[in-house]
Amino acid sequence: MMNDEATASVVEAIDEGRLWQRHMDLARIGATEKGGVNRQALTADDARARAALLGWAEARGFRSSVDKIGNLFIRRDGADRHADPVMTGSHLDTQPTGGRFDGVYGVLAGFEVMEAMSDVGWATRRPIDTVVWMNEEGSRFQPTTMGSAVFAGALSLERALAMTDAEGVTVSEALARTLLSAAPADMRPFAFPASAYVEAHIEQGPVLEAAGRTIGVVTGIQGLRWFGVEVVGQSGHAGTTPRTGRRDALSAAVAMVAALERLMDDRADTVRFTVGRFEIAPNSPNTIPNRVYFTIDLRHPDASTLGHLGDQVEAICRGNAKGCDVNVTQTLRSEPTDFAPAILAVIEDAASRLQLPSMRMASGATHDAKFMAGLYSTGMIFVPCRKGLSHVEDEYASPEHLAAGVRVLAGTLAKLAS
Ligand code: HGY
Ligand code: MN
Ligand code: MN
Repeated sequence: MMNDEATASVVEAIDEGRLWQRHMDLARIGATEKGGVNRQALTADDARARAALLGWAEARGFRSSVDKIGNLFIRRDGADRHADPVMTGSHLDTQPTGGRFDGVYGVLAGFEVMEAMSDVGWATRRPIDTVVWMNEEGSRFQPTTMGSAVFAGALSLERALAMTDAEGVTVSEALARTLLSAAPADMRPFAFPASAYVEAHIEQGPVLEAAGRTIGVVTGIQGLRWFGVEVVGQSGHAGTTPRTGRRDALSAAVAMVAALERLMDDRADTVRFTVGRFEIAPNSPNTIPNRVYFTIDLRHPDASTLGHLGDQVEAICRGNAKGCDVNVTQTLRSEPTDFAPAILAVIEDAASRLQLPSMRMASGATHDAKFMAGLYSTGMIFVPCRKGLSHVEDEYASPEHLAAGVRVLAGTLAKLAS
């Protein structure tokens, strides 16, 4: 039984310097000139970061395993090796102009707790697993939270493996290459039994910083729907082709986006609607575009609003096709999710024992915890990030805040694993 004294010794052993250094070590893998990180899913840099973590895990005697979609599991055994584990973790892949903390923090937070437990020689009753979810960002390969969605059965393995990047490389091919250089031997099934899942993450928004609080006790995550829209027209000479009768894919696509913007207009500013990717072919100034591909990221905290707005996307695209062919594919749908009150209470208690100011809050960003909530008692711990900025290269969180979040995670995992 991990009693209060043991928990206090683990919390005490959390090493702020070691935690920060590991962040800086991983930030070098895929570092950009502007101080950010471009380490997209299943690239050579992603494999290097996974290999670095596996090396640290091996040095600690932690066991590693992987599943069929490339999620990595690092286990610190408990006194009862057969007890259902307590899970924590996040992701190592980043946005193209990502920061040094989004995702990485949750992985290193779990790892730091396991190291501190080993430093003080405490055996929890349950094993603890720190997970590296594959392709959380969904930038190179859609959709976001791909690895955790497949793990939880919300996305089929076959569909995920067949998704391609802009160069036509499939997840399956890129995953095979990644596993060549960084793959533990042991395999794990999807959705195996676990007793709880708690993820630490930077808030990626301004709320904690504005409120002067150190810990966010996350109550849940808003719903989201992702779409890919392909518009196929007819290319032709820009100078000789009359505009009447053109099947101009760009002209149709911009009409679609304008119409969607009108649909998503929301005085309360609660709807989140983003067209983040917009590809044109052949992308030549004097050739009429014959193909446009664009993405839609739609989010809302209310399930019926998310349903109502998302259900109109295809009709609006078809209604502005201007003679082009239109293919609308929904690549992900995930309803608004509430986390387990019992887990929130444990997190809140851990924060108050450390006299850390905390507040309950919902998450605007999505996380792998969203799919864990459908399987296990799940919660999240947020720490502030400077000006609430994330998915930018100058994303920043202070060593003190990062360590404070890890101490709350340590208290939470110690309680749940014992
Ligand atoms: O898109 C998201 O919400 C996450 O940060 N990848
Ligand atoms: Mn993230
Ligand atoms: Mn992100």
